[in-house]
Amino acid sequence: MRVLVTGSSGCIGAWTVKNLLDRGIEVLCFDTEADTSRLGLISSHVGSPKLRMETGRIEDTARVKALVKDEGITHAVHLAAVLMPFCAANPVQGGMIDVIGTLNVFEAARDAGRPVRVVYASSSAVWGPEEAYGERSLSESDTPLPGTHYGVFKQANEGNARIFHQDSGISSVGLRPWTVYGVGRDRGLTADPTLAMKAVALGQPFQIRVSGHMDLQYVEDVAETFIHCALSPLEGAHVFNLAGTIVEMNDLIAMIARHRPGAEKLLTVAGKPVPVSYRMDAARLHAMVPGIPSTSLDEGAARTLDMFDELRRRGLMLT
Ligand SMILES: NC(=O)c1ccc[n+]([C@@H]2O[C@H](COP(=O)([O-])OP(=O)(O)OC[C@H]3O[C@@H](n4cnc5c(N)ncnc54)[C@H](O)[C@@H]3O)[C@@H](O)[C@H]2O)c1
Repeated sequence: MRVLVTGSSGCIGAWTVKNLLDRGIEVLCFDTEADTSRLGLISSHVGSPKLRMETGRIEDTARVKALVKDEGITHAVHLAAVLMPFCAANPVQGGMIDVIGTLNVFEAARDAGRPVRVVYASSSAVWGPEEAYGERSLSESDTPLPGTHYGVFKQANEGNARIFHQDSGISSVGLRPWTVYGVGRDRGLTADPTLAMKAVALGQPFQIRVSGHMDLQYVEDVAETFIHCALSPLEGAHVFNLAGTIVEMNDLIAMIARHRPGAEKLLTVAGKPVPVSYRMDAARLHAMVPGIPSTSLDEGAARTLDMFDELRRRGLMLT
């Protein structure tokens, strides 16, 4: 068994690589740069003989196909993508990375000459704003009405995964996280809950740039969900919602302040809510893939604050 992790230098990527290596599984990392800084913050796996890193671009079809075929890949966890703000500003480049890049991973699986199971990051951004649905929890049977290019790209990937199963028998799971938080989360519109926790550890003021509610999902749970789905024997092209803890941003500040008194003086909230419905039902995932962990926000925030404190003490967190 050899797992390709694309977008391995990123937040979910680093935790996925860590947890695969914790299990003793061989990992081939693929990202634009050989950046192991996030993996180094959360583990001592940098330099492990079971870890190899290749750099390149996910939209390079020949490269991605050669990697999967020639490197004995049996499972692909596909996370490489650019996030909502980048896609809003650069729809063509965003589409090349998020849509063509995902087609490349599936085509590579199809042409590998051995079964390759694909688990890929979709997103809650396939849902439009709350007003499109009313105040109810959305299941996978509801119709995606994405309100951003990024969401449209993710929806296209889910459709392409279905066609790759229909035409070529590639089994896959697409997962729809909402806001992932934890050490290593530092990019994208929804990084701010994590950046707020980091600021508190540094004793610095911080303004959360989005208001309203978010569904916060602890990064290690999300990484474990990708791994459980990769290791599961599920056949077909599945798409699952993920759900964590829904919290309003001022309540998040109050919760952080319960763990770190005084945090309420450092943290403020401004800006608009994220234009994505935040009520997602993840019952189908839990019914079809047993053992998915579910860390409460209280516990996940406590772990994140403790990790940031420890990194600060070791001089590994300067800004
Ligand atoms: N973090 C969240 O809250 C969240 C929510 C929903 C979905 N997702 C999805 O999960 C996946 C991982 O998100 P993340 O938070 O770890 O993001 P991240 O930005 O931390 O990581 C993404 C990684 O992809 C790499 N990448 C970007 N363009 C690339 C290219 N052209 N070729 C190769 N690699 C490239 C980046 O260098 C980066 O390391 C993404 O697909 C994202 O859309 C994340």
